[in-house]
Amino acid sequence: MAKSKPWLLCCFILCGLVCAVALICLCIASLVDRGCSSGSFKHAAVSADSLRCSEIGRNMLLEGGSAVDGAIAALLCTAVVNPQSMGIGGGSILTVRNKTGHVKIYNFRETVPLTSKLNLLRDCPTTFTFSTGSQWIGVPGELRGYAEVHKQYGKLPWDKLFQPTIKLAREGIPMPAFLGNFLNLDMVKSYVEQSSLCEILCKNKTVLGKGDTLKFSKLADTLETIAEKGVDEFYSGKIGRDLIQDIKAAGGTLTMKDLESFHVKVEDAWTVPLGDTKMHIPPPPAGGALLAFILRIMEGFSLTSDSLVGNEKIQLYHRYIEAAKFANGQKRSICDPKFHNSTRADHLINPSFINHIRKRIFSNRTHDNSYYNNIKPSLDQMGTTHVSVLDEDGLAVSATSTINQLFGGAVYSSRTGIILNNELADFCGRADSLKPGEQPPSSMTPVIVESKSGGILVIGGSGGSLITSAVALSIMNRLWLGMNLKDAIDAPILFVDASNNVNFDRGFDQSVIDGLKALGHKVGNWKYFVNVVNAIEKEHGCIVAVSDGRKKGMSAGY
Ligand SMILES: *[C@@H]1O[C@H](CO)[C@@H](O)[C@H](O)[C@H]1NC(C)=O
Ligand SMILES: *[C@@H]1O[C@H](CO)[C@@H](O)[C@H](O)[C@H]1NC(C)=O
Ligand SMILES: *[C@@H]1O[C@H](CO)[C@@H](O)[C@H](O)[C@H]1NC(C)=O
Ligand SMILES: *[C@@H]1O[C@H](CO)[C@@H](O)[C@H](O)[C@H]1NC(C)=O
Repeated sequence: MAKSKPWLLCCFILCGLVCAVALICLCIASLVDRGCSSGSFKHAAVSADSLRCSEIGRNMLLEGGSAVDGAIAALLCTAVVNPQSMGIGGGSILTVRNKTGHVKIYNFRETVPLTSKLNLLRDCPTTFTFSTGSQWIGVPGELRGYAEVHKQYGKLPWDKLFQPTIKLAREGIPMPAFLGNFLNLDMVKSYVEQSSLCEILCKNKTVLGKGDTLKFSKLADTLETIAEKGVDEFYSGKIGRDLIQDIKAAGGTLTMKDLESFHVKVEDAWTVPLGDTKMHIPPPPAGGALLAFILRIMEGFSLTSDSLVGNEKIQLYHRYIEAAKFANGQKRSICDPKFHNSTRADHLINPSFINHIRKRIFSNRTHDNSYYNNIKPSLDQMGTTHVSVLDEDGLAVSATSTINQLFGGAVYSSRTGIILNNELADFCGRADSLKPGEQPPSSMTPVIVESKSGGILVIGGSGGSLITSAVALSIMNRLWLGMNLKDAIDAPILFVDASNNVNFDRGFDQSVIDGLKALGHKVGNWKYFVNVVNAIEKEHGCIVAVSDGRKKGMSAGY
């Protein structure tokens, strides 16, 4: 007995230890579990431009839908809530990461029709203005793209994705605050009132405003047909024929052959290392390579939250501006690889080229445009929408969608209720010719970033030329400058326009502006900071979803 006593003691101590360790583990687990801050989600989320569309996407996920189902439903909804930004008369680029980490790009951006107006690019404006009219219409890829990704990743029936939006379009919704304000801006008001858009956006020949009902009855019928019968109704059936008839009547060149031959490009993402993360971006003609180029230049400056203090903050933005000026000089590297030298943009993610460019950035000065190869400045654009979705199974979708400028080229098809894109205007200042089937270069860059620890960031933006700045600065703020996701997106941005002038978002730090001027940067007068970033991140089991306040957006999740 006496002999076994130490054994017993040992046993007790051991048991005690095991229990204690187990308890501590349990405590930590429950702490981590409860560690998700209020406002974050445990399972899935959608960040679209509006709460209404984020919720429609979220509801699809709650009903067992995949992130792709949620993205399609949220995009269809956005075509009604923000018809100035996107719609089924446009095109999109989607970055999709499956749960085993494979990332694919679904590119259904518009293409040049078989016949287009002779010497179209001679009609390109030389200053910032809207390219209106049917000559700019590219072949719409939106619905073909939805069908393709739904076939691949959809879990809900196709028609279900359309139901909420058909209802909104048919019954009407109170004028959304952002659109109501937007329509009544002087510039937009006269633009809409003088175009065929007035049929759906005016009352008594005056644009709708606050308190009015926004209704798209014809679009509701079109969506219903496509929900029931599939996208062939658009690409080879009656809807297509009606659309082509309206485009012809407006002087456009699209034919049924253009619609019939549209196909979706499926390709691997470009994967670029960024600090201790990996960034997946869409290859050209998307804008991913320019984004990666800027971020990899900035990565070399070892940024931390201290970079936002005092003189360091001026240096931070100075370097960013220099990187953006070099990116402007590289815009012509972005083109449709099927129609041009397919390696024309490869150097933008090549470490030795990036290092070479970084060495050309001086802390004490800026340079004139030729230093950055920005000899033929492109034209700045605005428009577009972005939706980020992450589902319970770990499928992530980053989707940027557009009809290009506001309300495309202001061509409305009254037989189908569809607003047509003016995507061919994206060739302006960035190409000298165009070929049938070619996709115009784009700033769109739906991104997915993954960290070593398994964290994931689904992010992208809208705002035409502002997309690159908005997304680059949000990613820098989040990954390196110590901001949480909301602050990273809310922070005022600066935008280096096509002529390399620097434009500042409302609320940008005045002492930094002064410091940048002292370094020789010229300030521009860009007024439209409708840069809108919508993002979702998942870290340690918690999901944070942020929609940009600049478009009055809100996310939804559970
Ligand atoms: C993810 O995609 C890869 C490549 O397409 C495929 O081989 C793999 O089976 C996919 N994983 C899942 C879970 O779908
Ligand atoms: C329609 O507009 C005209 C001219 O602006 C105005 O005189 C008329 O009262 C308006 N009618 C209605 C019903 O609002
Ligand atoms: C294609 O572009 C790359 C990068 O600009 C260049 O090095 C290469 O010589 C080009 N190839 C052709 C055939 O023009
Ligand atoms: C800027 O710094 C470089 C060295 O980095 C120096 O050679 C040059 O003289 C400086 N220029 C001005 C204007 O201070």
